[in-house]
Amino acid sequence: MKKTIIIVSIIAVLFGCATSKDTSSTTETKVILSDLAMGQKLYPGYTQAKFDDGKNLYNSKCAACHSIITPSSKSPNEWKSIVPSMSALSNKNGKAISTDEELLITKYLVTLSSK
Ligand code: HEC
Repeated sequence: MKKTIIIVSIIAVLFGCATSKDTSSTTETKVILSDLAMGQKLYPGYTQAKFDDGKNLYNSKCAACHSIITPSSKSPNEWKSIVPSMSALSNKNGKAISTDEELLITKYLVTLSSK
C-alpha cells in the first residue's frame, strides 16, 4: 500500500515537471509559429521571409507620413482597401511603393489582423 502511494507520487512529480516544461517551450514556439501559420492558411506558400519583408516595408514605407497604425486595429477587409489607396497616395507624393511591395504589406497586415 505504502509502495503504491510512493510510486503514484513519483509519477505525479515526474508528470508535473514534464508538463510544466512542455508548456513553456510550446508557448515560445507558438508566438513565432502562429503568425506564419495564419499567413500560410490565408496565402499558401507564404514564408517567414515574406512576412518579415512585409513587416519591414510596412514599418518604413507606411510611417513616412504618419505614425504606424497597429495592424490589429483594422479588419482584414479594411486593410485590403486601405493599402492600395495609401500606396496610390504615397506614389502621388513621390514616396514610391511598388505593386510587389504593396502586396507584401497587405499580406503582412491581413495576417496580423486575422488572428
Ligand atoms: C504620402 C503620405 C502617406 C503615406 C506614405 C502613407 N499614408 Fe496612410 N495616411 C496618409 C494621410 C494623409 C491619411 C489621412 C487621410 C486619409 O485617410 O486619406 C492617412 C491615413 C491612414 C490610415 C487611417 C485611415 C482610416 O480610415 O482610418 C491608415 C490605416 C493608413 N493611413 C495606413 C497606411 C499604410 C498601410 C501605408 C503604407 C502602405 C500608409 N498609410 C502610407 C498619408 C500617407
